[in-house]
Amino acid sequence: MWRWLYTELRSAIIDGRLKSGARLPSTRNLAAQYGLARGTVVAAFQQLQTEGFVSSEVSAGTFVVPAPGWEMTSPTKQRPSRSRQVISRATIAKRAQSLLKTTFFLPASHSIGKAFRGYEPAIDLFPVELWARIAARVYRKAPRSLYGQGDAGGYPPLRRAIAEYVGHSCGVRCSAEQIIVTSGAQQALDLLARVLLDPGDEVWMEDPGYPGASQAFQSAGASVIPIPVDGEGIDVAGAIKSSPAARVVYVTPANQFPLGTVMSAERRVELLSWTARAGAWIIEDEYDAEYRYSGKPIASLHSLDRSGSVIYVGTFTKMLFNALRIGFIVVPERLVEAFRIARSFIDRHAPTLDQAILTEFTNEGHFGHHARKMRQVYSDRSQLLTEEANRRLSGLLDVEHAQSGMRTVAWIKTGVPEMVLTRRAERLGLEVAPISSYVSKYEQKPALMLGFAGCNENEIKRGVSVLEAVLSG
Ligand SMILES: Cc1ncc(COP(=O)(O)O)c(C=O)c1O
Repeated sequence: MWRWLYTELRSAIIDGRLKSGARLPSTRNLAAQYGLARGTVVAAFQQLQTEGFVSSEVSAGTFVVPAPGWEMTSPTKQRPSRSRQVISRATIAKRAQSLLKTTFFLPASHSIGKAFRGYEPAIDLFPVELWARIAARVYRKAPRSLYGQGDAGGYPPLRRAIAEYVGHSCGVRCSAEQIIVTSGAQQALDLLARVLLDPGDEVWMEDPGYPGASQAFQSAGASVIPIPVDGEGIDVAGAIKSSPAARVVYVTPANQFPLGTVMSAERRVELLSWTARAGAWIIEDEYDAEYRYSGKPIASLHSLDRSGSVIYVGTFTKMLFNALRIGFIVVPERLVEAFRIARSFIDRHAPTLDQAILTEFTNEGHFGHHARKMRQVYSDRSQLLTEEANRRLSGLLDVEHAQSGMRTVAWIKTGVPEMVLTRRAERLGLEVAPISSYVSKYEQKPALMLGFAGCNENEIKRGVSVLEAVLSG
């Protein structure tokens, strides 16, 4: 009861119904009026006094403290905002306002296996029982110190396991200390932007490219310079002309996002020699490096770098499951401390017990086993998608046969605009992304991005038949 009375009186003061300087009724009268115990009224008055809303003078009574601004805090006095744009203008920084304009936003999954979602692996095939057993063991047996503050750079045994893994999977030679464990590749990009970029610094960004990277760089105040991509990767010669003072270059050389091209050897050499001369950094984002379905694995830029200018980014979210949110950066030795400190001011460190579970999962060989199995599954799914598309969509959509990764490009042959198709697909329960959502300056021929890795055989077949309806409708 005292809390009710306190809330009522406080609202009356904030709303201005009880004016500043007004005298409150005596505790005795109020108690009688509302049929309350006097102690209840005294408790409410005491709370109001503690919070500075009223003051009491012996024998004179209790008065509302003069504070003319209170009504501003009243929820009833604030005008409701009509759109997120209105909120942004009034309250948030310009950089954040530009973030609000993005059309790239990954919604939470309410289902899995949705055709043709591009950012989810085959979650239904992930060995959850095994993961749960390892998790139970880790939670039970972990020393108490693991429940305390963790290392900002990551759980040391996981850093060792990652250093070993990148060494044999893509030739990245590094020590465990050079690994910084992050919350997925997205946080890695954010952290890189914070540590490497000053406001106004130029960053070469593949166009089309991964919007999550350009947003991270823009959030740090950098100036993102779109550089066109052709069949050999980013146009290095053109970029040198248009932005010779760039500080950072962002590339996805093994599987260009979103076109899927592999950066040619000449371009790699051209890029590495320019960055070495210019003293710029290369961010090599190998978000789905494990998945190559033909030929030999592609040697990373990092493995070719002699000047120490390549920083390698990887993630477990695409190789195991999204919700894990564990990724990593391989940073040059001299930057380790800067990254650890920057990380500690964001969210201290990645959850240590999850890192310990992943370490066990990896060290016991399950990670390698799962990755190999998924490589075959995704290769089959990519093949099935191409076959189904050739059978049912010829003349409507030209679906490229993906040689790597989790998604592919499908060029539109009908002249119906991308956005119209995307909306039609959405109404019929399909998730496709127009290529234009990854373009900043250099237009592409109309296309849709189709993810296949997370969809089983039936989902792919059904998805293609829905696509047929979308394209013919
Ligand atoms: C090219 C690229 N880089 C980074 C990321 C972010 O990955 P994560 O989910 O690990 O943050 C993605 C996610 O789709 C991506 O496509």
